[in-house]
Amino acid sequence: MSATRNEFTEKEVKPLKSLDEWEDAVLERYPEPDSIASSKSTDEYRNYDNPERDTVREFYRLNHTYQTYSFVLEKRAEYLKFDKKEMPVWEAFNFLNQLVDDSDPDTDLDQFQHLLQTSEAIRKDGHPDWMVLVGLMHDMGKVLCLFGEPQWAVVGDTFPVGCAYSNKVVYPEYFQNNPDYNVSEYQTETGVYERNCGLRNVHMSWGHDEYVYQMMKDHLPEPGLYMLRYHSFYAWHREGEYDYLLDDHDREMLKWVKLFNPYDLYSKNPEPPDWKKLRPYYEELVAKYLPATLKF
Ligand SMILES: [Fe+2]
Ligand SMILES: [Fe+2]
Repeated sequence: MSATRNEFTEKEVKPLKSLDEWEDAVLERYPEPDSIASSKSTDEYRNYDNPERDTVREFYRLNHTYQTYSFVLEKRAEYLKFDKKEMPVWEAFNFLNQLVDDSDPDTDLDQFQHLLQTSEAIRKDGHPDWMVLVGLMHDMGKVLCLFGEPQWAVVGDTFPVGCAYSNKVVYPEYFQNNPDYNVSEYQTETGVYERNCGLRNVHMSWGHDEYVYQMMKDHLPEPGLYMLRYHSFYAWHREGEYDYLLDDHDREMLKWVKLFNPYDLYSKNPEPPDWKKLRPYYEELVAKYLPATLKF
C-alpha cells in the first residue's frame, strides 16, 4: 500500500464517484463538433444543476492543491522502479477492470471496453497498427488507483510542475492553494526549466499518462509514445499553452497527440464491442509489439 493513501482521508482519495466523471467533464468542455448541432443539445452539456459538477470541482481542487513539484518527484521515484507487479498483458486488463466504482454498473462500460472502443475507432479509420495498440493501452496507467493512489494523482488534466501555471488549465484559481504557488523559483514562466528545453525535460503533474508512457517506452514508435504521455495535457494540445517549454520535436509531435485525442474522447458508445470476434486480431497485435509480461 502506498504511503500517499495514509496521508489523505477517504473523501480526499476518492472525490469522484467514478473516474469517468473526470472524462465526462472533459467531454463537456470539449464537445464533439458534430454532436453540438445534433443529438446532444448544448443545454444538456451546460446543465449547471448537475451534481457531478461539484464532485469534479472538488476533484480539481485536490489535484491543484496537492500536485506539487516534490509530490511528482516522490511518485516518480516510487512507481518508475516498476517493482510492484508483473503480469501478462491480458491479465493486466483483468487487473485494470477491478477498478469498479459507485456509478451505475448497468450503464457504464468497464475500463477495458473504453480501451477497446478507442482502439477499434482508430482501426476503422485505417491508422497504423501501433496507433491501434496505443488506443488499447492508453489508460492502463489507471491501475495506479489499485495501488492506493488518490484519483487526483491518477486522472485529471495534466500540467507542468516547477514553473508558472497556465490560466488555461481548468479551474486555475485552485493553484493558489498549492504550496508551490509561494515558491518564487517555481513561479516564473520557465521555472526550474530552460526556455525551449523540450517537454521530455519537463515534469508533468503525476498521473496515468506518464506511468503508461514509461511502461511502453521501449515498445512503440515515437508518435505513439507522445500520444500516451500527453493525452491528458489539454492545456497544450487543445489550448496551445506552454510554447516556451517546447522544442521543435514537440511541435512536430503535437499533430499526433491531436490526432489521438478525438478517439479517446468521442468513441464512447453504450454498445460493447464483440470481443470474441476481435480477440484474434488483438492477440496478434499485442504479441507483435509487447513483451510477454508487463512490469508495474
Ligand atoms: Fe486517459
Ligand atoms: Fe481514455
